[in-house]
Amino acid sequence: MKEKIYEFLMRLREKGHRRLIDEMLWVYRYARLYRKQMFFYTALGLVGTAVSLLSSLVSRDMVDIITGHETGLLVRTFAIFIGLNVGNIFLNQTSTYFSNRISISVDNAIKADVFDQMLVTDLESLQKYHTGDLLTRWSNDASTISGGILNWIPNLIIYTVRLVSTFAMVFYHDPWFALIAMLGMPVSILTTRHMLNKMRQTNNSVAAMNAKMTGFNQETFSNIQTIKAFDMIRLYSRHLRGLQAEYLDMRMTFQRLSLTASAIMSLAGLAISYSCYAFGIYRVWSGAISYGTMTMFLALSGSLSTTLNQMISLIPTAVGISVAAGRLIDIMDMPKESFAAGRLVDEFWEKNRDAGIHMHLTDITYRYRAGTSVFSHAEFEAHPHEIVALVGPSGEGKTTLLRIMLSLLHPQSGRAYVYGSATPDMIKLIPSTRRLFSYVPQGNTMFSGTIAENMRNVKENASDEEIVDALKMACAWEFVERLPSGIHSPIGERGKNFSEGQAQRLSIARALLRRAPILLLDEATSALDPATEEALLKNIMRDDYPRTCIVTTHRASVLDICSRVYEIKDKRCVPMNPLPANRYPK
Ligand SMILES: Nc1ncnc2c1ncn2[C@@H]1O[C@H](COP(=O)(O)OP(=O)(O)O)[C@@H](O)[C@H]1O
Ligand SMILES: [Mg+2]
Repeated sequence: MKEKIYEFLMRLREKGHRRLIDEMLWVYRYARLYRKQMFFYTALGLVGTAVSLLSSLVSRDMVDIITGHETGLLVRTFAIFIGLNVGNIFLNQTSTYFSNRISISVDNAIKADVFDQMLVTDLESLQKYHTGDLLTRWSNDASTISGGILNWIPNLIIYTVRLVSTFAMVFYHDPWFALIAMLGMPVSILTTRHMLNKMRQTNNSVAAMNAKMTGFNQETFSNIQTIKAFDMIRLYSRHLRGLQAEYLDMRMTFQRLSLTASAIMSLAGLAISYSCYAFGIYRVWSGAISYGTMTMFLALSGSLSTTLNQMISLIPTAVGISVAAGRLIDIMDMPKESFAAGRLVDEFWEKNRDAGIHMHLTDITYRYRAGTSVFSHAEFEAHPHEIVALVGPSGEGKTTLLRIMLSLLHPQSGRAYVYGSATPDMIKLIPSTRRLFSYVPQGNTMFSGTIAENMRNVKENASDEEIVDALKMACAWEFVERLPSGIHSPIGERGKNFSEGQAQRLSIARALLRRAPILLLDEATSALDPATEEALLKNIMRDDYPRTCIVTTHRASVLDICSRVYEIKDKRCVPMNPLPANRYPK
């Protein structure tokens, strides 16, 4: 039994180490890209160290000249001393300027990379995380990494060189003094070691808490209307305070621990600096060293203990970096979509541009990772010039089926293909085949920006005329035309300055402008009055583009103009024949 527990503990430990090693390697791979910047940063720090050592030597000479211990040119020594100090100020400023510049560009580069990776992450994997959490990982954790990469290794080098050279200089003058000055080291190391485990835990929980708060705030601000309407202001304000109290509590528990540790280290430091002082006075009194040497020792011993503390503080920083790396690895390691077949899909579309594209789903089984089983052995097909409807009660899987067509979700089994009218090629539905689709999602999915900008998101080089044509076809021109700035009118966050029906028509216009061979409309006309809806669908029908159109709907008015109807029922997708013209009362 005992052995088993031991074995289990060892396995856990091994796992923990592997994780740490993975994290370090991951950071290292990034760090390697920024070697030059790190080198520059290190060089600046080393020059600074050399200057300050030199200035302590000069200051020794100066004191010795003043106290008459040595003869020399006082004015010249003084001038050098001032020169070195002034030089040090300039060096510091220059180094700050460049290090800021470098750190912002590295931060940008890493964040851009994380952003890109997030965008190509498999949808279902990514959606396991709250957007607030993703945002925190993208901003805080990526910043910790970039800051860490730029500072950690250069600082390790700079501090080590500074510690060794200062120590050597003191040692050269007086070995005993050097040993006394380093007496604090074991105390600092022991206290830090004791803190390490706690640090990792705290860093992890603080990051999780930050993510929770960001998510909470984000949700609050984007749902402010609901919060007001349901009179939930006090409730939400209480929730926030609850979260803050939790945060405070967590931080303070750690703070108490780290205060104790730093008090121990400071007390040890104080004892050592008194000892250095006493020892210095004794050495001057016994005639072993000059006043100048003593002042130099005192300055150097101060710098030794500062550097030592700085070196030790690299440990918690490393813990912070590894925790942040772990949180980013979670995101970066999720399955990614591949767009390698983009060219192939383009060629396929080019060949079938005039004839249109068919879609065929066979024996599809799909279950969300959260557990909901939505399809089992579902069949579906749609062809150019058809409008095919998907009907069924809410929550049966209409939207899910469209997501499968878009390859946003991947069926566990079954075949999902598109094939051309002009060629015998078939292509499996993959992320690259999304370029064959235009999609009008459920809900308001316009972005902030002007109407024209929103339209050009899907077709960068669209002319104003093309945009107006698409708006006309989607029956949106009638209200856009009346806006003071026309297609250059601003759309708020999630389309907030438009009515739902208007936003739907803008969204349809956007999909039409893209002019893809397959058009998916997900309850896209649900907020329109019947007359507008009919006009809009007829416009789409009249267009002689060989479009394959798939709509989900509850409305009989839509079914009237459909070529075929499928009903989603009992996890299947069943063709309805004859068309249920009178099954859905108008
Ligand atoms: N992202 C998701 N994760 C887990 N389950 C989901 C998700 N989206 C939808 N579902 C579930 O899948 C089922 C079908 O949803 P959906 O396709 O949106 O229905 P419909 O569009 O027909 O109203 C529902 O029972 C819903 O609970
Ligand atoms: Mg739906």
